[in-house]
Amino acid sequence: MIEIIGRGSPYLFIAFAVKHDRLRPSSKLEYDVSCPTNTLERRPPKRFGSVFPPVTLCSAMTAYPPISEQLDDLEAAREEGRRKMDWAAQHMPIMEAVGDEFDANQPFEGERIAMAMHVEAKTAILVETLADGGAEVAVTGCNPLSTHDDVSAALDTHENITSYAKRGVDDDEYYEAIEAVIDLEPTVTVDDGMDLVAAIHEDYPELIDGIVGGAEETTTGVHRLRAMDDDGALEYPVFAVNDTPMKRLFDNVHGTGESSLASIAMTTNLSWAGKNVVVAGYGYCGKGVAKKAAGQNANVIVTEVEPRRALEAHMEGYEVMPMADAAEVGDVFLTTTGNRDVVVREHFQSMKDGVLLANAGHFDIEIDLDALDDLAVDRYEARDGVEAYEMEDGRRLNVIAEGRLVNLAAPVSLGHPVEVMDQSFGIQAVCVREMLENADEYDAGVHDVPDELDKEIAEIKLEAEGVDFDSLTDTQREYMGSWDHGT
Ligand code: NAI
Repeated sequence: MIEIIGRGSPYLFIAFAVKHDRLRPSSKLEYDVSCPTNTLERRPPKRFGSVFPPVTLCSAMTAYPPISEQLDDLEAAREEGRRKMDWAAQHMPIMEAVGDEFDANQPFEGERIAMAMHVEAKTAILVETLADGGAEVAVTGCNPLSTHDDVSAALDTHENITSYAKRGVDDDEYYEAIEAVIDLEPTVTVDDGMDLVAAIHEDYPELIDGIVGGAEETTTGVHRLRAMDDDGALEYPVFAVNDTPMKRLFDNVHGTGESSLASIAMTTNLSWAGKNVVVAGYGYCGKGVAKKAAGQNANVIVTEVEPRRALEAHMEGYEVMPMADAAEVGDVFLTTTGNRDVVVREHFQSMKDGVLLANAGHFDIEIDLDALDDLAVDRYEARDGVEAYEMEDGRRLNVIAEGRLVNLAAPVSLGHPVEVMDQSFGIQAVCVREMLENADEYDAGVHDVPDELDKEIAEIKLEAEGVDFDSLTDTQREYMGSWDHGT
């Protein structure tokens, strides 16, 4: 008789017992769970195969079901998800090359990879590539609105993958799904926003010893990790995938620029031409948004808090002004700061009727929707994905995708273009390989991605695009590496 106490999965407990030779998989198990009413059935993770039967456990424990147990028309969803993935895969030559290598060498044999990412077609190719390389993978979303359920369902059919990602989950379900992923007892974590690393450190510190390392996809996640590292609180190594040139110069700039503008245009059916587009933050994402908006004949206004970036935007030919001034003239507001409270009450009070408000930063904290709600006398869905907040004086301020990152959370949004994510996920994939191959070289903390890995991915991409480029001659290499060549 096994008594299960406290939070967490019974399978985690069983895995521990098996690992420590206190229980044989063939043992006949009986459970004495202390809350017989309000019980739930829990399917064992796939790594246990059919060895363990489903168990009944009390609802205080993690019991979040995989997506396959949550959809009505599962077969249709799986088929459509697979179709989306096949289309993406056709345009991902880097993932194809990396995948061929992983298939042949099985670098992840015996590893368990936990992932919290935007679960849509491109990410699914990364998940599948890691699983085909021998890993057992559990995945969930990193944003309640960015999951494509059909893609999640297609992933869940893979024998090495369990997908818990579901669109539209509430906060409790979101974190239950994170916990379900952690139940895998990962040896590697792959995050987009750092929710997995945070949950493991806060709630499952006993798993840290078994974790070789991790990789983080986005700016906000890397900021959080560096803050954690500075506090001495990060207890395993994590690659800052976001910070590599092959990620940041393409994904953040071109990916966010193109996909945010496309998502807003499709959601609203409105034109960019002639509009005053206020871009908050002139970092990598802001630069992309500003450039693409200008390319669509918008008049771009930039707001910044960092003097060199404000100057850069000015020298690029954009108008730069404080948000308080921009609020009065803007037609569209797009936040890309990764910071909170960028558009707030005083700004809403001076905005024009009909403005569009959207966010492309990782969290939905850049536009203060509580204050907007407070000011509004009425609130209604103006279009699919557009919530109108009506002010006392009749002005309507339109919020797109609930202020969540617009290129992934708007109903029509598809995220970054496939080619861009091929690069970002190529880096993710080789980072996981590197972390496992050379684990001894990485202490706990945030690590830059080795430059040669970044170049490896760039070279695969150039070859796939049929682009030739020059190499240094020996004389040039010697010249660049010496300090004693003067005039
Ligand atoms: P970044 O650090 O390069 O740029 C952020 C800029 O915002 C900085 O120049 C900073 O000075 C400025 N800023 C901070 N607070 C501000 C304020 N109150 N007002 C005006 N400007 C302010 O970061 P990056 O790479 O551009 O990322 C920005 C956000 O976008 C992050 O949350 C990141 O995770 C997210 N992101 C979103 C993507 C998407 O698909 N939507 C893709 C990649 C990143």
